[in-house]
Amino acid sequence: MRQIPMTRSCPFSPPDGATDEELGKVRLGTGDEIWYVTRHDLVRQMFGDTRFSSEVDGGAQGMPLHQAEPQPGMFIQMDPPRHTRLRRMLTGRFTLQRVNRLRPRIEQIVADQLDHVEKQPRPVDLVEHFALPVPSLVICELLGVPYAERETFQVASARLLDQNVSREEAEEAMGGFGVFLLELIAAKRARPGEGLLDDLLAGTDLTDEEVAGIAVLLLIAGHETTANMLGLGTLLLLQRPGQLALVRDDPEVAKTAVDEMLRYLSVVDSLLMRRASQDLDLGGTTIPEGDFITASLAAANRDPALCENPDDLDVTRPRTHHVAFGFGPHQCLGQNLARMELEIAYPALLRRLPGLRLAVPLEEVPTRDDMLVYGVHRLEVTW
Ligand code: HEM
Repeated sequence: MRQIPMTRSCPFSPPDGATDEELGKVRLGTGDEIWYVTRHDLVRQMFGDTRFSSEVDGGAQGMPLHQAEPQPGMFIQMDPPRHTRLRRMLTGRFTLQRVNRLRPRIEQIVADQLDHVEKQPRPVDLVEHFALPVPSLVICELLGVPYAERETFQVASARLLDQNVSREEAEEAMGGFGVFLLELIAAKRARPGEGLLDDLLAGTDLTDEEVAGIAVLLLIAGHETTANMLGLGTLLLLQRPGQLALVRDDPEVAKTAVDEMLRYLSVVDSLLMRRASQDLDLGGTTIPEGDFITASLAAANRDPALCENPDDLDVTRPRTHHVAFGFGPHQCLGQNLARMELEIAYPALLRRLPGLRLAVPLEEVPTRDDMLVYGVHRLEVTW
């Protein structure tokens, strides 16, 4: 049986071999044999059906996959009705209208961060100085978490998403992160502030542990993904000067460009695991009860049934039904926020530094084949 496709010979394409088979079995590094689905319509069918349960743990850091009782607040790993209860408390905060109110603040954060980039000696690592800080600042402000504490969650999430780190190390980092959040919540109960966490504490019956779990989820999901889209997306545009010019110069294109780049790069690829809670049909194949299944979102987003010439990047392409944010009840809660951050950040960066170029050959840019969220570890640039 083949291993789950993970390595990429082209930094912008799905993992090698991911598009070979629509639905079949692959082996994980842990030895687990799981189903692997890559056809766009089947991926949507699978994620749209909560009988493919999200209450799963393991599959990374050498830990075998197993059915798991979710941690309090971690609704990404819950099925309805538990999932529905928690998600409903948050959806109002992430509507397009609500997120639009954040636009001026996000523009300011991006501009300040570009001031900071300009002051650095060149070459500058754009991941460290731009791609990572922008979404971290935004999510900290939204939640009401002091940005000075960013190292706690940046380090914890880097450990959690690193396939080469042991389970013990990942759990230790997460444990420290949990303690930090419970202390923060205790301080907020004593003296309420203005963020989303404060609102949850004041306006719901959630326990401290549940609010801490929600905070962990939002902090990790809210910065790693967007940061990697910013880093890898900038690298992609630097390789496609014609497309780069369109994103830089035409504000209308910036909007379609973000969706097209999300589709094309699919930085969250095969991280999302499900377990069949009963025998389930998927495109004529029975997935037996208890079997685990994942999808390649990157492969599904290159399915010729989704759009014409899926292997071409076309920043003017009208929005497609891509699955870069997943699909169904767990579809990304933060997608409006992520889109807005990217829509603001790419053109602002390209306008501020019109001479932006790579400071090392493309082959020397370290890609994140070893991480659960794909992207680049560093992006050395000059201008
Ligand atoms: C480019 C950026 C992003 C990408 C590609 C992305 C991708 C995804 C994907 C694929 C899922 C589905 C998980 C599943 O089905 O199991 C998801 C869920 C989620 N995302 Fe994002 N995400 C991004 C940004 C964000 C941001 C900025 C936030 C935070 C505010 C966020 C918060 C969440 C949450 C809370 C969930 C769980 C939703 C649920 O289980 O109901 N994401 N994301």
